Amino acid sequence: MENVKRSTDKMLYATFRAVCTNTVLFVFIFGFGEGSSLHHRDSRSNPLSLEKHFGQYPRDSQCHHMLKHLHNGARISVQMPPNIEGHWVSTSCEVRPGPEFIIRSYQFYHNNTFKAHQFYYGDNHCTTPTYTLVIRGRLLRLRQASWITRGGTEAEYQVHRIQVVCHSEAVAKDLSQRLNRSCRGVEGSCDCSRGLNFAMHELQLLRVEKQYLHHNLDQLVEELFLGDIHTEPAQRMYYRPSSYQAALQNAKNHDQACIACRIIYRSDEQHPPILPPKADLTIGLHGQWVSQRCEVRPEVLFLTRHFVFHDNNNTWEGYYYHYSDPVCKHPTFSIYAKGRYSRGVHSTRVMGGTEFVFKVNHMRVTPLDQATTSLLNVFNGNECGAEGSWQVGVEQDVTHTNGCVALGIRLPHTEYELFRMEQDARGRYLLYNGQRPSDGSSPDRPEKRATSYQTPLVRCATCSQGSEVNRADTDQPQRLSNGSRQHGHSGLLDSICTVLISIAFLYLS
Ligand SMILES: *[C@@H]1O[C@H](CO)[C@@H](O)[C@H](O)[C@H]1NC(C)=O
Ligand SMILES: *[C@@H]1O[C@H](CO)[C@@H](O)[C@H](O)[C@H]1NC(C)=O
Ligand SMILES: *[C@@H]1O[C@H](CO)[C@@H](O)[C@H](O)[C@H]1NC(C)=O
Ligand SMILES: *[C@@H]1O[C@H](CO)[C@@H](O)[C@H](O)[C@H]1NC(C)=O
Repeated sequence: MENVKRSTDKMLYATFRAVCTNTVLFVFIFGFGEGSSLHHRDSRSNPLSLEKHFGQYPRDSQCHHMLKHLHNGARISVQMPPNIEGHWVSTSCEVRPGPEFIIRSYQFYHNNTFKAHQFYYGDNHCTTPTYTLVIRGRLLRLRQASWITRGGTEAEYQVHRIQVVCHSEAVAKDLSQRLNRSCRGVEGSCDCSRGLNFAMHELQLLRVEKQYLHHNLDQLVEELFLGDIHTEPAQRMYYRPSSYQAALQNAKNHDQACIACRIIYRSDEQHPPILPPKADLTIGLHGQWVSQRCEVRPEVLFLTRHFVFHDNNNTWEGYYYHYSDPVCKHPTFSIYAKGRYSRGVHSTRVMGGTEFVFKVNHMRVTPLDQATTSLLNVFNGNECGAEGSWQVGVEQDVTHTNGCVALGIRLPHTEYELFRMEQDARGRYLLYNGQRPSDGSSPDRPEKRATSYQTPLVRCATCSQGSEVNRADTDQPQRLSNGSRQHGHSGLLDSICTVLISIAFLYLS
C-alpha cells in the first residue's frame, strides 16, 4: 500500500460550501500474472430443500447429507474473469460492521462505468431509510486472478462523484455536521469522504457464480460476490478485501422467491427500498446447523461448518472442515471442538443481535492432506498432540496439549459471540454468527465482539441427537413482536438535502 497521488475534492451543501483539495489517495500495487479466461465448472450443490426427505434418514444424518451435497448436485459455474455488466441487488437487509444497516443496488455498464446505490437505514430490517449514497465511477482492469483469495478476481476502480440524499431533516442535519467537520482541517488539506467513512474497496475483489436452482433450467440465478469490509470501522478505508460480503443477485436472474430483490430493483435515491417489516426472532440454538456453501474466510481459508447445540445443558459441538480450494473439494484438515455456552442476552449495540459467550475446552484435529500432516509433524514438544505422530486421516485429541499452536488454537478458549436468526424465503431457519475480526485475531474479549455477521448456517435438524424426542413444537423460535409497524412510502422520501461531493480516487496497479 502506498500513498501517492493527490486530487481534488469539491463538496457542496445547501448551507455551506467547502472546497477541499489534496485528498489522500491509496494506491495498491500488486504485480502478478493475468487470470485465465476459462469458464470452469465447479460442481457444488445448492442446498436442496431436504425437509421433504425428513424421516427417511436418522435425523442427525440430514446434516451430513447436506454437507456432502455441497460437493455435487446442482452445478455452479464460475466466470473467470467475471462479466459483471448488469444490475445487481442485495437479497435482504445487510449488516455491516459498525453496525450499519444497508441495501445495495449496483449497475455496471458496458463502457466500464458504474452507478452504485447504497441505501442506509436506521433499523435492522431496512424499513426506515436514513440516507442514500449514489456513487458513480469506473471499474478498471478485471483480469487478475487473485492470489490473496483463490477463485476471486482483482480489480481497480475510480470514484468520480458521490451524491448523498437524506431522507429526513434530522439525518440531513447530522450528516452536514459530520461532513462539515471532516471537510474542515488545515486549509488545502482535507478529505470529505472521511465524514462518511466511505470507501468502495469492495470493488477490488469480485466473483460471479451462476447456478440453476432446484435443477431447473428456467431458474438461473447469477450471484456477484464483492469484497468484504474490515470489521474495524476505522480500518475500512485502508483494507484490501480478502473474502466476500453476502452475494448480490442479478436483477434479471434472481431467485424467484426473493421478494426483496424485486423491491430493491425498482428503487432509486428518491424512492429507497422499504422492506416488508419482520419480527426479530428469539434465538433458539437447539438442534443442528450446517453451512449452505463453501465459505471463505480472510487469509485463504475455505471451510464448511456443522454445529450441534444442546440447550438442555448449554453445551455445544462444532465440526470445522477446512479445504484448500474455493469449492471445498480438497480437504486439508478438520477440527472437532466442544464446550459450553452462556444464555443469550439482547445486544444493546447491534439491533436485532443476541450476545453469547462460548467456551472451548476440548478439541480434536484430523489432518486430511500431506501438507497439513507435515506441518503438524514439524512442531516440537507438546504443542499440538504427540510430537511427530501425525498421519493423514488419523484424528488426535489435542486437549491435553492445550490446543494446537500450529493451527493457532489455545485451550481453554473463550469467544464473545453475536447471533441472529432469520427465516429464509422458503421458511427454513438461518443462523448468523459474528464476523471474525479481519485482523485474524479472535473475539476473546467483550470489546472485540462482532458487530456484523458471517454467511448464515441453515438448520438441518431440530434435535441435537439422532433419535431424540420430537421437540418440534417447543424449539421453534418465538416471535418477539409482530413488527407490523407500517411506513407510508411518501413521508420518508422528502429529500431534504442533496449533497454533491466529487471525489476522485485513483487506484493503479
Ligand atoms: C456509459 O454508459 C452509461 C449507460 O449507458 C451512460 O449513462 C454513461 O454516460 C456512459 N459513460 C461514458 C463515459 O461513456
Ligand atoms: C461548519 O463549520 C463552521 C466552522 O466550525 C461553522 O461556522 C458552520 O456553522 C458549520 N456549518 C454547518 C452547516 O454545520
Ligand atoms: C449435554 O446434553 C447432551 C444431549 O442430551 C449430551 O449428549 C451431552 O453428553 C451432555 N453434556 C454434558 C457435558 O453433560
Ligand atoms: C400485530 O400488531 C398489531 C398492532 O400492534 C395488532 O393489531 C395485530 O393484531 C398484531 N398481530 C399479531 C398476529 O399479533
